[in-house]
Amino acid sequence: MNAILEIDRLSVHIGQARPVREISLTVAAGEVVGLVGETGCGKTLTGLSVLGLLPPGSRATGTVRLAGRDVLTMREAERRQLRGGAAAMVFQNPGTSFDPVRTVGAQFVRVLRAHHPGSARAAGQLALSLLRDVELHDPERIFAAYPHQLSGGMLQRAMFALALSCRPSLIIADEATSALDVSVARSIRRLLLRLQAEHGFGVLFVTHNLAEAYDVCDRISVLYAGQVVEHGPTEAVFSAPAHPYTRALLAALPKPDARGGTLAAIEGSVPQRVIDVRGCAFANRCPIAVPRCVEEAPPAVTPTAGSTAACHFPVGTR
Ligand SMILES: Nc1ncnc2c1ncn2[C@@H]1O[C@H](COP(=O)(O)OP(=O)(O)O)[C@@H](O)[C@H]1O
Ligand SMILES: [Mg+2]
Repeated sequence: MNAILEIDRLSVHIGQARPVREISLTVAAGEVVGLVGETGCGKTLTGLSVLGLLPPGSRATGTVRLAGRDVLTMREAERRQLRGGAAAMVFQNPGTSFDPVRTVGAQFVRVLRAHHPGSARAAGQLALSLLRDVELHDPERIFAAYPHQLSGGMLQRAMFALALSCRPSLIIADEATSALDVSVARSIRRLLLRLQAEHGFGVLFVTHNLAEAYDVCDRISVLYAGQVVEHGPTEAVFSAPAHPYTRALLAALPKPDARGGTLAAIEGSVPQRVIDVRGCAFANRCPIAVPRCVEEAPPAVTPTAGSTAACHFPVGTR
């Protein structure tokens, strides 16, 4: 497999807490890999680790290889180059990703000129073609507009155009369509797949919404309290979820036919500060936990082993 991204036992330490714990996952060229789990599970910190953008005071251990190069040990200057080239990240809120007091076009030109030598005029032409490429039909108007004059969906398309401008081999989409209307979100996911088919980059698709992941991902890693608790091909994870947490997430999805029904909620909440636990981190919320689950850590999930779950009793064995 031609892995663009290889994360091996990545942990993020913030003071005494370890919000990301020994995560392993891979993304190959042309592949969409989902990273799903409730808010606070460590998805964003994982994505930020890949780009060397962790908040001050935090520290990453393990290895993160991006296009074959170890991100965690390289110097900041090298990392900065990697960010504009090998990988780009698109976040949830395009309104805050753009500077409100500069036109979209001015922001494109600034970024483009930082990475491609050439005149402002050439950068402007490139910006227009990038905006057209993300299916914005009036690129001249978008180019001249201030961010507040555009809808969230348009801004998110522009954000993807900016991310694509450096021809990255990996795009990290962090809740990139989570805040948009359902139909707008779907059209942007379609756009992402079309661009991927054209350009061949890998995607790490980060979301708290399992339904979004189902829509676009080839494989899914389910995160709970900073650990991967289940990994497998999307179809397998949805049709035969092995971990009780994955089953709870699936049960909590709104059913299109459940008119006026109440949404199932998962009892309890994600631990706010993940300190080391001896057994399974989900044991205190798990409907099938036994004393062993509190005492003994389940086997870790490896990203190469097909479908696996970090559970003493994956479905069917208890
Ligand atoms: N800058 C920070 N300082 C301290 N704790 C943080 C910081 N950023 C994130 N955390 C903690 O790390 C955990 C994981 O955060 P995050 O990766 O943002 O989760 P997610 O993206 O899955 O919602 C959370 O419990 C959060 O409180
Ligand atoms: Mg997040």
